[in-house]
Amino acid sequence: MNRISSARLATSLFATVFSGRPHALASAPGRVNLIGEHTDYNGGPVLPVALERRTAVAASHADDWLVTSTMDRKVRAIGVGAPLRKAWTDYLVGVARELRAVGAAPAGAHVAVASNLPIGAGLSSSAALTVAAAKALSLLAGRRLTPAQLVDVAYRAEHDQVGVRCGRMDQTIAAHGERGTALLFETAAGALQRVPFAGRLWIVETGVSHKLVGGELNQRRRECEAALALCREWRPDIGHLAELVPGDLDAVARRLPPELVPRVRHIVTETARTREAAAALAQGDLTRLGRLLVEGHESLRVDYQSTVPEADFIVASAVERGAYGARLTGAGWGGAVVVLAPAEREARILAEVGRDFRDRFGRAAEVWSTRASSGVRRESVPV
Ligand code: GLA
Repeated sequence: MNRISSARLATSLFATVFSGRPHALASAPGRVNLIGEHTDYNGGPVLPVALERRTAVAASHADDWLVTSTMDRKVRAIGVGAPLRKAWTDYLVGVARELRAVGAAPAGAHVAVASNLPIGAGLSSSAALTVAAAKALSLLAGRRLTPAQLVDVAYRAEHDQVGVRCGRMDQTIAAHGERGTALLFETAAGALQRVPFAGRLWIVETGVSHKLVGGELNQRRRECEAALALCREWRPDIGHLAELVPGDLDAVARRLPPELVPRVRHIVTETARTREAAAALAQGDLTRLGRLLVEGHESLRVDYQSTVPEADFIVASAVERGAYGARLTGAGWGGAVVVLAPAEREARILAEVGRDFRDRFGRAAEVWSTRASSGVRRESVPV
């Protein structure tokens, strides 16, 4: 499936379901976050990479809204003004509403969505969908939005319309990704810095779908907001938790309720790790980068409590088998582990990790690799 581009799949699905050729076609990548987890809604840095796997949206002018996808192959009528249905189509409705708010929505559209990204694997299939849809539907409306405008539309679709209280990492990398680079995104300043990364990253899926992620993520976000409010009683100048430094953690431990202290510790240490990781990557120091990934995973496991046993096992196995490092990537509570391994031994290491996983859990884990790829783009309709 990965061999056929999502743009080609979307076009042929469109032709089968709606007949003819789409008027607009765009695609956007999923992402793997190297490090900087749960920092984006706390004003800290993130270091994501755009995947080679993408989601494509093919659309044509219509009076009504009809959508179909390779995920469920049904044709559904969506109401842009009607209530959301707790289905994947809500993301499209959210995009259409947000485009309308900026005068960049078509009156209606027939839409076919195709993806070769796994869903619920923590690889941001939702931002790939919203960013690709924002691009395709705005093109259909005759508008060319900038990558920053696409990020805004996609972020508001997910955050304000669908109601997942995410940060802006996923939409930002889906719109701004560039081949051969990781993106250091300082979320408070909005600054983007590209860090060359020519190597290969391995993805090991836990097979645990993070369906509940909206709930868990929203809960962590509430905890972070509560922690920030308490920190402000003592440090009124603080705008985000990520402004605290490791030297503040003793005071945090004295002043905050015990259940909030590890959450703050994760944000503060992860912020420092992410900046150090970007420097290590820029210097080509993969050993140091790998160590930071493992420390980041430990922090997620112990302090943020967002890992699952399958992910902990994969990380331990990867390190034991000789990887530079590994960590659970994305929101967590399931999803996938990213593994960084020495190029000359990576195939063997990942085969061993796959075997260890099967021996332990009695089922196979999906294992695949990617290089840093490009962000959203208009696609020419294949013939
Ligand atoms: C999800 C959210 C992101 C980010 C990560 C955790 O992917 O969409 O904004 O918060 O979780 O780092």
